[in-house]
Amino acid sequence: MPEIRPVTNENWKELIALNVQDDQKHFVASNLYSIAESQFGEDVPNEGHWDMFPYGIYDDGKPVGFLMIAYNFDCARFQSFILRLMVDEKFQGKGYGRFGMSWMLDGLRADQRVKVVAISYEPENETARKLYASFGFVETGEIVDDEALALLNLR
Ligand SMILES: CC(C)(COP(=O)(O)OP(=O)(O)OC[C@H]1O[C@@H](n2cnc3c(N)ncnc32)[C@H](O)[C@@H]1OP(=O)(O)O)[C@@H](O)C(=O)NCCC(=O)NCCS
Repeated sequence: MPEIRPVTNENWKELIALNVQDDQKHFVASNLYSIAESQFGEDVPNEGHWDMFPYGIYDDGKPVGFLMIAYNFDCARFQSFILRLMVDEKFQGKGYGRFGMSWMLDGLRADQRVKVVAISYEPENETARKLYASFGFVETGEIVDDEALALLNLR
């Protein structure tokens, strides 16, 4: 069974060693960048501060992927942003991406502070678009930082 583990001083090096395929590299930031970013979060004008939480996707004790969730309970439009999801090139197509999405959304559904979840992806990333749509994400038609924005209403 796959499992999700927080990034710690003990596993960050094995998580930054994970890679997507060369032709997927423009779809997602490196795990090294994401872990660095998570130390600080981000202040967005008119939205406030976003806290970021990085995790590894593991199977059988082995790292297979990475994800990162952001929260800002003061943001009126969406209170959580699924910022990253990647599965190492060697382990794609085995259900780990879907598992990571389910894990994040289960946690968010249990959190009364989160009413709407956002996600974004490059418009040509068909695999990501279909995966997110299957969880109910609906595109708003906006392009933010060259990525399509999609939202999911939880409550
Ligand atoms: C997108 C990504 C996270 C999906 O993870 P994954 O573990 O490979 O996907 P899963 O095995 O859970 O499959 C999820 C769905 O995508 C489909 N899928 C997976 N890889 C695919 C591919 N190369 N082409 C077409 N469909 C694909 C599967 O058929 C599955 O659909 P289903 O559940 O309806 O059968 C992974 O492919 C990845 O890391 N891609 C590169 C980085 C990226 O694009 N991240 C998202 C940025 S927004």
